[in-house]
Amino acid sequence: MLEQIIQPLLKWYDANHRELPWRESRDPYHIWISEIMLQQTRVEAVRPYFDRFIEALPTIHDLAGCPEDRLLKLWEGLGYYNRVRNMQQAAIQIEEQYGGKLPADFDSLRSLKGIGDYTAGAIASIAFDLPVPAVDGNVLRIWSRLIGCDEDILKDKVKKEAFRQLKEVMPEQRGGDLNQAFMDLGSLICLPKGASHCQACPLQFICQACKQGLTEVLPVRKKAKERRLEERTILVVRDGDKVALRKRKEQGLLAGMYELPGLEGFYREEEVLTYLKQRQLIPLYIEKLKDAKHVFSHVEWQMRGFLIRVASLEDTSENDWLFVDAKTAMQEYPLPSAFRAYASYVNIQPGTFQGKETRHPAANRRKI
Ligand code: ADE
Repeated sequence: MLEQIIQPLLKWYDANHRELPWRESRDPYHIWISEIMLQQTRVEAVRPYFDRFIEALPTIHDLAGCPEDRLLKLWEGLGYYNRVRNMQQAAIQIEEQYGGKLPADFDSLRSLKGIGDYTAGAIASIAFDLPVPAVDGNVLRIWSRLIGCDEDILKDKVKKEAFRQLKEVMPEQRGGDLNQAFMDLGSLICLPKGASHCQACPLQFICQACKQGLTEVLPVRKKAKERRLEERTILVVRDGDKVALRKRKEQGLLAGMYELPGLEGFYREEEVLTYLKQRQLIPLYIEKLKDAKHVFSHVEWQMRGFLIRVASLEDTSENDWLFVDAKTAMQEYPLPSAFRAYASYVNIQPGTFQGKETRHPAANRRKI
């Protein structure tokens, strides 16, 4: 029965598709970048990053040779930084094995670092017009509603079945348009939970969920594991125009990024001052900042922040802190959005392209 959806879906796509920057070209490199950015990030958030990335690194060769800090800076604010590190490794692989051009077949694409079934299907179909499905969360939602599947769509077995069924009905031409039609239908019409607009759907004539009133029940998704909560104390340590930054470890969460120095657990004001003095710093005043939180996929940081002005940032007991001009920090150091709430105290706006000074009332400021 799924073959019946192809023509109505393509017709709907022709009339209703979204105008998106990565749809202006069929350049496989552009398609690849957009698909990686669009994993776990919304279309509207991706738009400006996409244009800037292409301008900064116009070829696979440029991506392969880009220094890591610059690469992370271009990705700053998008999160999930391993995506861009993997992309660079894949770019090197492409240079070495495929003469600098993305290969035009599913299996070779799939063998590249960071490219899974979904992304290989998306690039193969959109850039090379190959008849391969690209099964992501949107497609799984639409497919499970169409056929009335009540199994957990996060199971590998179910994903494979969706891929198999869709592969069978893929048209020889316009596979890329069909996959993008699924993406747009999933974003505009066949929305999650109770929000879908079935009356405007070109596939309602065949949709089991729509016919049986099951759109609020399908798809079935097993509840994700609860996030681990971590308490952290974030220090905005300033000396005039300079601010203390620290490079994170090369492994794990936010690997290799820069951060405002932090301490595990919640510290009180006096404890922060003692810690700074142990680092040979001379605090002049301290101000408690607002609490903040940042949600990652598996962890949630609950943050308590302090702004501390010190007499001099130059001589500290350990050398893992860098003291950089706030403007330089903004331009050159990749600082994750997790620090957005506190970075505005140092002229840095992580995850945006321009820094601006934000004035904060000094309600909790205390002279030492
Ligand atoms: N989500 C993932 N890939 C997409 C694309 N190419 N267009 C729109 N939304 C998407």
